[in-house]
Amino acid sequence: MRKPSPWNPGIALIASLAFIGPSAAAAQPGLQEICRDFQTWHETHDSPERATAAYFAELISGGVAREEAERRLALLGGSGSECPAAAAAAFDRIYGDSTVRFSTEPNALLVETVTGMKPGRALDVAMGQGRNSVFLASTGWEVTGFDVSAEGLSIARAAAASAKVEIRTVQQGWQEFDLGKQQWDLIVLSYAWVPIDDPAYVERLCDALRPGGTLVFEHMLGESRDELGIPETQQLLRAFASLRIVRYEEIEQRGDWHNEVLPLVRLVARK
Ligand SMILES: C[S@@+](CC[C@H](N)C(=O)[O-])C[C@H]1O[C@@H](n2cnc3c(N)ncnc32)[C@H](O)[C@@H]1O
Repeated sequence: MRKPSPWNPGIALIASLAFIGPSAAAAQPGLQEICRDFQTWHETHDSPERATAAYFAELISGGVAREEAERRLALLGGSGSECPAAAAAAFDRIYGDSTVRFSTEPNALLVETVTGMKPGRALDVAMGQGRNSVFLASTGWEVTGFDVSAEGLSIARAAAASAKVEIRTVQQGWQEFDLGKQQWDLIVLSYAWVPIDDPAYVERLCDALRPGGTLVFEHMLGESRDELGIPETQQLLRAFASLRIVRYEEIEQRGDWHNEVLPLVRLVARK
């Protein structure tokens, strides 16, 4: 199990714990069960962050041991959670909070890469608030993006409408979104929380590219493979060895999603 994200904003996920009572706690539910319970809860609560304290108190007063509660919280994780509902809750909160800072400009690597390219069909994986999708659509690309965050997708659609461009948005996690085969001239993975350490998922990404298609990747560079979506040094070169690597950089720079200089990795590869 991966460790919780360093971005974990100490979020509302504690609230999910209320769904699994003391008896289930004794049975030590795993991620799937905890995730399912969280999802049920999330679907019926509009403002998870406000309910957190009450739910946590309810859980504890319902007899679930604090240690067990903490174990489940750690399993759910935060923004990089493998539980789609937990990730959605974390990012809905981020996108709904105007004090959280991240870039709303298109990713610079993407802009550089597509400049001069003939537009085609693009897929924006974990598209977030759509900064890259809207940029691509504005330059003639036919764009599909998917993400688990309803809040992110709604901002993306509004941004597309105000830029007077069309984008297709799909509210799904990487766990269920069908990448298809030979579908895309461009696949964008910009700070995307997807399992880049899973060879089967990487193969699906490569299969989904059309011959001649381009894959653009930028994210934090991690020290271990524990973090969902964050590769370690050189890992992307091995993962995407079946493609032609046309650009690869490990750099120290301010990330699009960070207020500090930190290690980043960038890859551009062609099929
Ligand atoms: C750091 S943001 C990056 C967003 C966008 N690509 C960008 O560069 O601005 C990570 C995105 O991953 C999404 N995400 C998290 N878990 C996901 C999952 N299981 N499937 C799809 N998207 C997910 C989040 O909702 C969030 O929008």
